[in-house]
Amino acid sequence: MAEENGEVAKATKPTIITVFNQKGGVGKTTTSVNLAVCLAALGKRTVLVDLDSQSNATTNVGVTPPISTGAYQLVTGKVPFEDCLRKTPFENLRLVGGSDELAWADIELALQPECQAVLTRALEKIPDTVDVVVIDCPPAPGVVSVNALVAADMVVMPVMPSPHALDGLHKAWWNVNRVRSSYNHDLHSIYILLTMTEESELTNRLSEDIIAEFGHRVMPVLVPRDNVVIEAAARDLPVVSMAPQSPPARAYLRLAELLLNRASHMGGEATGTNRDLGAEKLAVWAAENEGRRSNLAIPEPGEMPDPGWTEAPELAEAALGRDAGWKIGAGIGLVLLGAVLGFAAASAWFAFPPT
Ligand SMILES: Nc1ncnc2c1ncn2[C@@H]1O[C@H](COP(=O)(O)OP(=O)(O)OP(=O)(O)O)[C@@H](O)[C@H]1O
Ligand SMILES: [Mg+2]
Repeated sequence: MAEENGEVAKATKPTIITVFNQKGGVGKTTTSVNLAVCLAALGKRTVLVDLDSQSNATTNVGVTPPISTGAYQLVTGKVPFEDCLRKTPFENLRLVGGSDELAWADIELALQPECQAVLTRALEKIPDTVDVVVIDCPPAPGVVSVNALVAADMVVMPVMPSPHALDGLHKAWWNVNRVRSSYNHDLHSIYILLTMTEESELTNRLSEDIIAEFGHRVMPVLVPRDNVVIEAAARDLPVVSMAPQSPPARAYLRLAELLLNRASHMGGEATGTNRDLGAEKLAVWAAENEGRRSNLAIPEPGEMPDPGWTEAPELAEAALGRDAGWKIGAGIGLVLLGAVLGFAAASAWFAFPPT
């Protein structure tokens, strides 16, 4: 055991937090990214794993694809964890980035023995320089998502209160529990996070229905719908580092603190000092990011750059079969021309027969 500041440091396994809901567009990526940045700001050595081929989590923390060695290689067991890590602009936060190849990982994994536990095996070799891993799942209950759930110590399920939310939540809940009972018996920390909440009677009623059914599983924090989240995503920034005082950013910092408190083996409670340090760190990152792509202006049509798509209209026409019409027209023209020339030649033959 290592000795730090005179105290014997506990060798702890990093905590794996999987952010999952098979329903699309409910805030999984936004939650993964902002949670990971907040955990890093709170001093936890964090790794964000982007398991979605859309790679939105990757770009959202300011890393530009392509990723040659990342989540695809990790989840299919091709490359060890440490070789998949990349730096991010945020202290304490590293990334295992997403790539297009992840779209094929489900099929490739399905061909492997014990295909549900490939990621678990890869994460067993995490070095002790990592405290917490946050995994962003794709919007599907495929083999990749199952791997992320089998490896999880905690699951956070973002749910957007909408008319079909409860239905979707039942399905996702059933899948998580199926994984728990079949492969991950120690998975008890399964939480629901209400995202994109609005001040409306309908949202309140839908949220109340979810709370009535799932009780303490619903995190006591709401992430409100706020355009600042979309603005931050458009600038490839987590909202917590662009606008740390905004209501969604404060909600994500609170979520990180609550999860830290619930995961005792993640290195103790988030004390008041930690919280202040976290907020301070986020404010520093916000100052560093100020102005990043903020002067974006849409040019007038005349000032628009030439996209250089010279071949595109021809390709489009070919796809629509318009060039086939042109070819048929030209063919008919040639046949008619041939007929006229033939008729002229025959007339000349009869008028002036060769002697
Ligand atoms: N609190 C919020 N307020 C406003 N917009 C939000 C909020 N949270 C997320 N969004 C926006 O909603 C959209 C969907 O969010 P996000 O990409 O996080 O969902 P997802 O579940 O990861 O989607 P997918 O299933 O496609 O991976 C994004 O455009 C995001 O910027
Ligand atoms: Mg996503």
